[in-house]
Amino acid sequence: MYRTHTCGELTINNVNQSVTLSGWLQRSRDLGGLTFIDLRDRYGITQIVFNMETNALLCNEARKLGREFVISISGIVAERSSKNLKIPTGEIEIIAQKLTVLNQSVIPPFTIEDQSDGGDELRMKYRYLDLRRNPLKNNLQLRHNLSIFTRNYLNDLGFMEIETPYLIKSTPEGARDFVVPSRMNPNQFYALPQSPQTFKQILMVAGYDRYFQIVRCFRDEDLRADRQPEFTQIDCEMSFVEQEDILNIFEGLTRHLFVKVKDTDPGIFPRMTFADAMKYYGCDKPDIRFDMRIADLNELTQNSGFTVFDNAELVAGIAVPGCSEYTRKELDALTEWVKRPQIGATGLVYIKYNADQTLKSSVDKFFDPVSLKQIAEACGGQPGDLVLIMAGKENRTRKAIGELRLEMGNKLGLRNPDVFAPLWVVDFPLLEWDEETNRFYAMHHPFTSPKPEDETLLATDPGKVRANAYDLVINGVEVGGGSIRIHNKQLQREMFSVLGFTDEEAQHQFGFLLNAFEYGAPPHGGIAFGFDRLCSLFGGSESIRDFIAFPKNNSGRDMMIDSPSTINAMQLDELYLELKTPKSN
Ligand code: AMO
Repeated sequence: MYRTHTCGELTINNVNQSVTLSGWLQRSRDLGGLTFIDLRDRYGITQIVFNMETNALLCNEARKLGREFVISISGIVAERSSKNLKIPTGEIEIIAQKLTVLNQSVIPPFTIEDQSDGGDELRMKYRYLDLRRNPLKNNLQLRHNLSIFTRNYLNDLGFMEIETPYLIKSTPEGARDFVVPSRMNPNQFYALPQSPQTFKQILMVAGYDRYFQIVRCFRDEDLRADRQPEFTQIDCEMSFVEQEDILNIFEGLTRHLFVKVKDTDPGIFPRMTFADAMKYYGCDKPDIRFDMRIADLNELTQNSGFTVFDNAELVAGIAVPGCSEYTRKELDALTEWVKRPQIGATGLVYIKYNADQTLKSSVDKFFDPVSLKQIAEACGGQPGDLVLIMAGKENRTRKAIGELRLEMGNKLGLRNPDVFAPLWVVDFPLLEWDEETNRFYAMHHPFTSPKPEDETLLATDPGKVRANAYDLVINGVEVGGGSIRIHNKQLQREMFSVLGFTDEEAQHQFGFLLNAFEYGAPPHGGIAFGFDRLCSLFGGSESIRDFIAFPKNNSGRDMMIDSPSTINAMQLDELYLELKTPKSN
């Protein structure tokens, strides 16, 4: 028998029992007369003791063992003389009577401790070793719990989990597709799903009115901390529902997960329109854990003679609480921060609204103290605050000051990962104009329905049409998004036409969906949660990588299996593919 118990299980209640444990050798300490081994498995660590006096042979064997050897130990549970109350098994140890080496290990390239000495790439290459560490183990356990709670909750509400295919054709989620050549259909390709969007809509036509799937999605896009080329969604769709129904049901799911996993109920989620999110927070995923709203200052700043403000499409500011005593050096550092290419601002104006109510600014030449006070107060500033102002083209400036707001939130410790502030962002625009290609793109995807009251604008002023689309944002992270869909074939055609598809192109790419809509499509809508993002949020981390067992690195590579990789000439030939030399950048 390999084991009677796990390494996380034995307590003072098991004293004097004969037990057998198996696991990995975490560390060993040789104290002359006694040798101690920490034996580790998925469940915890148990201390094993070998006594030179009573069993010299066994003790000598134990001294030869290396880190990460797989061993099996039999012995008697005994109360420890010096207890470690930080771990559940810390009151006992096993007095070893038998030792079996089940397998040896070479010396691991980094320490298997909570704080490892291994760098990112090294740990990704040896992911199986990294996964032995507690932080990753806890993350995967959290992920597992979230998936079980989700499945049970949705099952109880009558949702059916249905798998949809991975070898499909392009889905319009706005990223590039990963494609797979078909050997049996020369020169033809499958695309991996960016989401199961079209299939879940077809399931609605088929009558499966409450669908969900915890499903892998694939998107060939630039990677960031919260993006992986393959990631997982909790994908959901319902028939005979309106936006309100979807928001309520999935707010219910999210709150349930908070209660189960974090033991806290975040209460009813506030809602904000896309327009307000952009105006007050400079982005469509506001972090509302803190206020510091953006104020438009055009009216108060015109005709001062300060050309940066006079010529700007937008002058906008924020009041940073309690920072009026920022030094020259700190202000210079902030200015440098906003000038970085990622933010792209040309400069930063400040007003110190001092605690004694005096005002000092970088634009004292152009504004008298009364005007400065008016500006500061328009930003919600109070004595003791620092007002930061940016000016320039509207969209860019809003985005930049939104970023500055987040940075100041970070600096002031206002973005505590243990505080959760969910928010529904609603009324997204249906379409987005792209200057480069001179055409509209669907902001969400082309199956999203316009708000009924805006439908007539589709023909006259498409840019103004708002959609029945919503995002769930938590702590500034877009955790999920969805919409009520178009279920009327004529409206879907019109939408394709606004998006610049000819009838033939629409038929070629989405004919299957349009055809399905001929056979009685019910009104329907849905949402998809980014499951990895949800996990990292619950786990208090910004990176989703640590919540995925085998993630890709920033260049989209799996370092462990060394993929992507070349294929041999015969495979290429079978797939009718020829290699090309990449153009150098
Ligand atoms: P959307 O494209 O908004 O909607 O995706 C839904 C959610 O998936 C997560 N997400 C990602 N997570 C990790 N890595 C990525 N590369 C990545 N891309 C997206 C985000 C996002 O909110 N079919 C629609 C949903 C619907 O309309 O029902 C869709 O996929 O958290």
